[in-house]
Amino acid sequence: MEHFGFTDGISQPIIEGLGKTEPAADVIKAGEFLLGHPNEYDLYTSRPTLAPSADPRNHLASAVDQPSRKDLGRNGSYLVFRQLEQDVQGFRKYLEQKTKAADGTGQPAEALAFAARMLGRWQGGASLVRSPDKDDPALAAFNSFSYQKEDPYGLRCPFGSHVRRSNPRDSLDPNPGSAESVAIGKRHRLLRRGREYGAPLPGDGGPAGAEHDGRGLHFLCLNGNIARQFEFIQSTWINNPVFNGPLQRRRSGARFSLSVRGGISPSRLSRCGSGLSAYRGSYPYEEARISSCRASARFGISATLPD
Ligand code: HEM
Repeated sequence: MEHFGFTDGISQPIIEGLGKTEPAADVIKAGEFLLGHPNEYDLYTSRPTLAPSADPRNHLASAVDQPSRKDLGRNGSYLVFRQLEQDVQGFRKYLEQKTKAADGTGQPAEALAFAARMLGRWQGGASLVRSPDKDDPALAAFNSFSYQKEDPYGLRCPFGSHVRRSNPRDSLDPNPGSAESVAIGKRHRLLRRGREYGAPLPGDGGPAGAEHDGRGLHFLCLNGNIARQFEFIQSTWINNPVFNGPLQRRRSGARFSLSVRGGISPSRLSRCGSGLSAYRGSYPYEEARISSCRASARFGISATLPD
């Protein structure tokens, strides 16, 4: 359980050749994580090799793709380690503010649901694709779902959620929902491990005074190509304001979008463009409403949605 209260480490790639073969969309060539083996391009990822003269005792195998070189990198990998501080009090305050009732009363269940929509899974791990309205312990470890086929408009699991951006599954261009889309996603996977650091807040079982301590996540991942995997996922997907959302393929100043709990029906979304103010107050989450409506109003997304 990480500090924001979510179960982590559920979704992992399956390394081809280690026995498990399902779900097929998660079976990734070993070379994506282990150097000296074929990767998802059926090529060998760049790695350090040596001239045979540098290996006089012949300890190293020859590189399969460069027989005149010795494979120093074979069976190695690259580890990314990041210490990511989490402002847990700030996060909770934000959730509380965005979900309070009109009379100012806090709504803790709504705050948890809003957090779940930011992540794309419930605190217990269930994906919003399969359980959009409440956490479901039976689905805590379930990971064999898709986005384009099951939730093409992001009405269950918001486009802007963390998991939908960090592993878009079958929803990548140019042919969302196709085997080609899944194949593109397979070139951007990570073997992740998260370890929280710092004490929990006193209200969560931490010691008195712990509210003044730093806390967060030690994010670790293994990958064969840091630029194409870790850096790509972080910069081109997760931190990119125009990736994955009604704003996909468009330019806008909006940071991300989250549809509201229970989903915006396509017909409701289509009306956003004609009168933003008509919905003021009728959506539980102001910010989510505005970004969704702004997107549809500016780019005519409603025209592409069936009623
Ligand atoms: C404090 C920062 C972060 C927190 C609290 C966090 C938390 C989470 C949680 C709770 C999950 C869902 C569990 C799961 O599906 O395994 C998740 C999934 C994931 N996160 Fe993060 N994460 C953080 C930063 C990052 C960063 C920096 C990256 C990569 C650059 C990343 C990449 C991923 C990926 C690839 C998944 C799996 C998505 C999937 O396969 O469906 N996360 N994260």
